[in-house]
Amino acid sequence: MKLSRRQFLAGSAAASLLPVAGHATSAAIRLEPAPSRVQLAPPGYSMTDVWSYNGTIPGQTLRFKQGDRLRAQLVNGLDEATTIHWHGLRLPNNMDGVPGFSQPAVQPGETFDYEFDLPDAGTYWYHPHAGALEQVARGLSGPLIIEETTPPDVDSEHVLVLDDWRMTEDAQIHESFESGMDLSHAGRLGNYVTVNGSDVLEVPTRAGERMRLRLINTATARIFSLEMQGIEGWVVALDGMPLDKPEPASTISLATAQRVDLIVDVTAAPGEEAYLVSQERGEGYALTTFKVASGSVQARREAPAPLQPNVLPEIQLKDATIATMLMEGGAMRGMDGAVYKGEQMDMRALMQEGQFWAFNGVAGMPDDPLVSAALGETVRVALGNDTRFDHAIHLHGHHFRDIRADGTLGPLRDTILVPPGQIREIAFVADNPGKWMFHCHMLSHQISGMMTWIDVA
Ligand code: C2O
Ligand code: CU
Repeated sequence: MKLSRRQFLAGSAAASLLPVAGHATSAAIRLEPAPSRVQLAPPGYSMTDVWSYNGTIPGQTLRFKQGDRLRAQLVNGLDEATTIHWHGLRLPNNMDGVPGFSQPAVQPGETFDYEFDLPDAGTYWYHPHAGALEQVARGLSGPLIIEETTPPDVDSEHVLVLDDWRMTEDAQIHESFESGMDLSHAGRLGNYVTVNGSDVLEVPTRAGERMRLRLINTATARIFSLEMQGIEGWVVALDGMPLDKPEPASTISLATAQRVDLIVDVTAAPGEEAYLVSQERGEGYALTTFKVASGSVQARREAPAPLQPNVLPEIQLKDATIATMLMEGGAMRGMDGAVYKGEQMDMRALMQEGQFWAFNGVAGMPDDPLVSAALGETVRVALGNDTRFDHAIHLHGHHFRDIRADGTLGPLRDTILVPPGQIREIAFVADNPGKWMFHCHMLSHQISGMMTWIDVA
């Protein structure tokens, strides 16, 4: 049998109902990353040895209300050090989960208590920030949902975790984590795509039903290009942060680590099916099948109101501190060399160290930050991609806006895709004190050079 992602209309997997925890205002949630075995490949294939949180793929959905305090105990059941990074959250620096940087690495058998307030509603996720590529590629990640105090008016809500796996013929995780080919090209692209750990997720719905879909891309490299069939609706939030005005959704690009919240209406007729479709090189395949129940149709409703906004400080472009991040390296373009661990190296020497990329001529974490910002100051960074590959650049602890060509500001995001040969300029208010990582979230790129940090004091 050959693993394929193109089981369009095939199979009959039941909607996988994700385990949910949260609303825990007193007791801590226990999150144990450990080896486990799950049925990841379609029925008929053997089970897959993965690393997962509490035994499930994806990890359980942690659900809180805006303003709650998150308490989670990490219990390391792996044979190597780990941490948890709470992707997209504005949290205290010592809770950010970057080992040897914002907290000590949590050794096997040890625990670490995470505890912090949740100021923003939205769709976020959690994953390790140790052994950055391998731990996530083996299955460690899960959704983190923070509900608005006044949630939007919808009939149902579905969290859809999109992931991409590189599997062997016998349905095991391919152990090619350090392949120079992946590191120097588009990263560890897989051969098997899942939504909520299933290749053909089915979700029951009704004609006219208004659904909130929370999409999370936990893949280490794949950029999804998504379309909907039999469903129409609006983008209401990106990377957790509400848009000022819902925008009609057509094709949605979802880069590594990004999230999108949609409010959609089922336009397919009773008894039909609707789909969330992934488009790739002109071919579409269903990631999720919405089975429309027979029976009555709900009347079409007005466009939804914007989600309740999160409160962030205003960006002040004048008097902003200005910086540049120049991305270089990779296959088909390369670079003359870069500084690595304080030493100038040529490309050959860098490759021997497993380094293929650089920001501003430095591969790996530099000693000095890209920017030192005073607390509350606006920072503008031009992200220049002088490589032949896409990069999804993520800033910790803050959300930024892109500065569009006409000078207006785009929506708040924590991860931005910068296509090859292009420049994107972003701006944010450095209002969260600490040392924050700023890196490519294509994890093969992160471990092979694309990392830096900002200092806010
Ligand atoms: Cu999703 Cu630096 O992380
Ligand atoms: Cu990259």
